[in-house]
Amino acid sequence: MADALLPESTVAVIGAGAMGAGIAQIAAASGHRVKLYDSNINTCKTAVEKIRNQYSTLVKKGRMSTAAAEAASKRLFSTVELTEIADASLVIEAIVENLKVKQDLFVKLESIINPSCILATNTSSISVTAIASALSSPKRFLGMHFFNPAPLMELVEVVSGLLTDQVVAETVFNTALSWGKTPVHTKSNPGFIVNRVARPYYAEALRLIHEGSSEPQTLDAVLKNSGGFRMGPFELMDLIGHDVNFSVTKSVWNAYYCDPRFTPSLVQEELINAGLLGRKSGQGFYSYAPDAQVLHPKFAESKAIQGPVSINSSSLIASRLSCGLLEKGVDFRVLELGDGSLLKVGDTSVYMTDGRTATRRAADQASNSVVLIDLAIDYSTVQTLAVCSSLQANLVEVNSIIGVFQAAGIRVAVIKDTPAMVVMRTVAMLINEAADAVNQGVADVRSVDQAMCKGVNYPKGPLKWADSIGLSYVHRVLSNLAEQYGEDRYRISPLISQFMFAEKGFYE
Ligand code: NAI
Repeated sequence: MADALLPESTVAVIGAGAMGAGIAQIAAASGHRVKLYDSNINTCKTAVEKIRNQYSTLVKKGRMSTAAAEAASKRLFSTVELTEIADASLVIEAIVENLKVKQDLFVKLESIINPSCILATNTSSISVTAIASALSSPKRFLGMHFFNPAPLMELVEVVSGLLTDQVVAETVFNTALSWGKTPVHTKSNPGFIVNRVARPYYAEALRLIHEGSSEPQTLDAVLKNSGGFRMGPFELMDLIGHDVNFSVTKSVWNAYYCDPRFTPSLVQEELINAGLLGRKSGQGFYSYAPDAQVLHPKFAESKAIQGPVSINSSSLIASRLSCGLLEKGVDFRVLELGDGSLLKVGDTSVYMTDGRTATRRAADQASNSVVLIDLAIDYSTVQTLAVCSSLQANLVEVNSIIGVFQAAGIRVAVIKDTPAMVVMRTVAMLINEAADAVNQGVADVRSVDQAMCKGVNYPKGPLKWADSIGLSYVHRVLSNLAEQYGEDRYRISPLISQFMFAEKGFYE
């Protein structure tokens, strides 16, 4: 196993913009002499000043000692000529995202640096193998993909190109570890791990809007409160900028030769056409004008409970619903309902979504009245739940069911009858993409989960989530989505099928 770079070795960072400055800040704080180079000398000098100010801020916040800040500031140098970085043991490039410009830089660097120096790119969308093709020694070249802001985000994707030496990848992995980061190994493929596996988080949300399932603020509330995601997809896309988010989606889609999994959304394209880019333009799905009206999620008003209520004793939320009804003084029975329903009011049964619409499920069961609930990360604490009902459902009974959930302290978001609903659909598709990434050797199970938790703050790794839902259930949801839409977009990853047939979880 290769060791991390020694702290006394020199690290050079090329490009002193947002990413380069952040990377230089971390490397100098970790004990390295850091040489920063930028084609614009003023940018370079300003970046060094900004980093020193950052250290002072950290001292004021008690997150760095004065001595450490002074020492790190002294280890940081701006350079004028590229030749000044000749003694570097590791060069990290964070310049403009352009293949030819990056290749030209690395070719120049090869004539300056010593033979044992490692060359790394922070590219987020260009093939590491393609950049390396211009080099005479591609073995020592790899991707070191930091996330923005680099000093705060823990994840570093260590990206091996086809010809990267394993020892070089290990050295960079252990160096990132010694810098307090969470590195994961991955291969050069479009989107690496995070920018690939996260695509369905945006894509399915945009589809739900396109199909009129609900409005952005309600879907955001459901994904945050019921799914446990830190930000809803619409507020997140507004923050990233629709132009940036759309261009990443488009580049991943193009790179996979128009695989329908990644098809960009017309809804997002229209926002861009209208100049509604999100926070930076003052309007995206939400308005950021000072006098903007706050868009509140739409939850069902308080509903009365009428009719006989039966709760399935073996359901996940039986005790929570029972307590709520007891408190409200509503009569109910707890019994074993053999049909897999969670709850029944009169002739209307409630099930967890399995990917079929409520209307389809009602038809399959030769009953008119079916209500579905969405996936929640934890039914014992969930505060918000999406619910939908079959087209011919008995409205009095549907309202009573909403009342039962409300009695248990759960806000109900009534959405259009949509295949796999909101959280289940999003999570199933994240699992599908994560499983395909593992199946294609992009990374192992743990690395994919770690990357999604550390890189985009998911509440659970998708593959761990798959195990807790059960792989046969995930398979069923995806099969039903595929059948309902008849699109290759929802095809099931062969790895999910394999594990399901083996009756194993990803972590077993
Ligand atoms: P930026 O535009 O803030 O900074 C780029 C810097 O590179 C500028 O200061 C520019 O003067 C300098 N530069 C351009 N060409 C140069 C050359 N040939 N030689 C030396 N310096 C040169 O860009 P940012 O956002 O820092 O991105 C840099 C790289 O990091 C890109 O490859 C980008 O894809 C990648 N990246 C960006 C992330 C982000 O969220 N901004 C996240 C992860 C990776």
